[in-house]
Amino acid sequence: MQFGYFFANSVIIPQMKLNNPLGDLHPDEFLQQYWQKKPVLIKQAIKDFSSPVSAEELAGLACDESFESRIILEKDGQHPWELKTGPFKQDDFARLPATHWTLLIQDIEKHLPELSYIIEAFHFIPDWRLDDLMISYAPEHGSVGPHVDAYDVFLLQAQGKRHWKINTQIDQSADILDDTDLKILKDFSCEQEWILEPGDMLYLPPGVAHYGVALGDCITYSIGFRAPSHRQLLQHYLQTVIENIPENAFYTDPNLDRQQNPHQITEQNIERLKQTISDYLSLDKELLKYWAGTLLSESKELFQTDGIDEQTTLTEFIDQWQSKQALYRNTALKFLYIVDDISINFYIDGQVFNATTELSQQAEWLCSAVHINYPELGHIEHRDALLSLMYDLYCHGHYYF
Ligand code: SIN
Ligand code: CO
Repeated sequence: MQFGYFFANSVIIPQMKLNNPLGDLHPDEFLQQYWQKKPVLIKQAIKDFSSPVSAEELAGLACDESFESRIILEKDGQHPWELKTGPFKQDDFARLPATHWTLLIQDIEKHLPELSYIIEAFHFIPDWRLDDLMISYAPEHGSVGPHVDAYDVFLLQAQGKRHWKINTQIDQSADILDDTDLKILKDFSCEQEWILEPGDMLYLPPGVAHYGVALGDCITYSIGFRAPSHRQLLQHYLQTVIENIPENAFYTDPNLDRQQNPHQITEQNIERLKQTISDYLSLDKELLKYWAGTLLSESKELFQTDGIDEQTTLTEFIDQWQSKQALYRNTALKFLYIVDDISINFYIDGQVFNATTELSQQAEWLCSAVHINYPELGHIEHRDALLSLMYDLYCHGHYYF
């Protein structure tokens, strides 16, 4: 298949809303029965679903350097299961074989806010657990090989058919193939299998081996989740604790008893050292909130914002908004908040933004609106507090016109 080339910003997708993406399965039942427990195939999870992005558009996006794209060639590459990383050129697509390859584009909703509605449909799971929307295109026999992922994933069939086989007994410790950059299972046997058609969706908890092969031209959407590793949790927590320790705080021992054996580290020494660190690990509630907010709102490196706009004044910001009408949220970032009786803190891109509790009512709306038209503010309570928060966020690059 030969692809036309065009740029990401030429993709125009109508803004839509999906209600329950689980078909007849209620989200509560899904969470009780399946989430993080066992796979489930949902036939017609999203009835009449068709991919808002075509294969040709995906190829165009893969040629844009701001997108993270990969091509996996099972055959006819330099070796079996060759992994090529983008950006690609039009010629790269012209040279591909007719079958046995897959194009994958990661984090696509972060570049194309028009696709946020797909991710938002999965909001029965907290937003901080969502990782990305990955879209794959494959011709006949295209596959990324049998493998195991460490994360939960919903595999939504968007165009054509894919034959999925899974095995819940094979885990991440199973042998993988040598001589490829991919973690492909050496031995895969099928325990359950299905042919997915557009609108069908397969949910897999972490650690279930899966193998999907395209039956003709095929587009699959992977709504992937993330979970911090225990190492990451503790590393970030300790970092947060350390940042709060005054530099001039040192170990003290004012009640030192004379030691018989000066080379010995005694029980008492250990006890005093333990006391010193355990005072810091007392899991203070406020510190825990700050730690959770900054950690869970962290962005992938590619999407991190830097630099602050110190030029624009609040009045100029409001004037611009009035004249341009729509202000867009940077959908590449997570907008999270923690609220209690006395404060509300917004956490974006690993940073905290304080606001007054009067904005609690607006928090969910603010964090989910993809764009806000200036006239919408007319109905909003505590408009000034909101404007000043949004101005701060705008200056940090979290909103744009
Ligand atoms: C694909 O879309 O081909 C692969 C998705 C996955 O296995 O996670
Ligand atoms: Co996978």
